[in-house]
Amino acid sequence: MNNAATGRVAAIIPAAGSGVRFGAQIPKAFIELDGISLLTRSALAMSVVADVIVVAAPSDQLKLASDHLANVDAEVHVVAGGEARQNSIANALNVLPEDVEFVLVHDAARPLVPIEVTTRVLTELQSGAVAVIPVLPIADTIKRVDAQNKVVETVDRNQLRRVQTPQGFTRQTLHHAYVDPTIVATDDAGLMEALGISVLTVAGDELAMKITTAHDLTIASALLGVTNE
Ligand code: CTP
Ligand code: MG
Repeated sequence: MNNAATGRVAAIIPAAGSGVRFGAQIPKAFIELDGISLLTRSALAMSVVADVIVVAAPSDQLKLASDHLANVDAEVHVVAGGEARQNSIANALNVLPEDVEFVLVHDAARPLVPIEVTTRVLTELQSGAVAVIPVLPIADTIKRVDAQNKVVETVDRNQLRRVQTPQGFTRQTLHHAYVDPTIVATDDAGLMEALGISVLTVAGDELAMKITTAHDLTIASALLGVTNE
């Protein structure tokens, strides 16, 4: 896609995890959902809006990762991932072309993200937000417990959200957040919070679920069946 009016859009796809909780013999990104790998599906989803896609892949399987990206219509780069997700993204940032203005960071493990979610994130970036994340409300009642597993209190779930990807940032903001490797967070928006950068939320979607366990793959497969009906 050509976003000449506003600067190019890139997607960084961290795909270098080994998938310990999934428990397969191959990295999770190469697992197939209905015959298409999680990596391929995630990259195809991003390619609808992204001109450039940078994938951080397991360092010993860069060629295989490239093969999974063969049919993706974008300028594709594959780099070796790092020890943690944050290191993988830092490696991807190193090869990001200079003319990219907006960056979507999207987990390879969220293969079914609908285009509507990606568009909501990107639209807010193009309207001036510097950091945007898709979120969902929490349906269950949430309790805080102590070390003995006794309930301490009920947490007000109305103020809590489940966070998904793609998380969108201006290139400058993301670079700024990754300059200091001593700041550690479980997601990219977490780095922004540590730096006092304001993060906007938009509506996520159940289809953007993360595949963590084999059970999640079964759920995703069922969801795919429903969306294809
Ligand atoms: N990831 C990465 N580099 C790492 C660790 C994770 O690029 N060193 C990526 C994964 O490939 C995944 C995303 O970050 O697409 C979210 O991570 P997660 O779901 O935790 O995947 P894994 O780390 O592979 O799974 P596990 O934690 O069960 O080992
Ligand atoms: Mg992990």
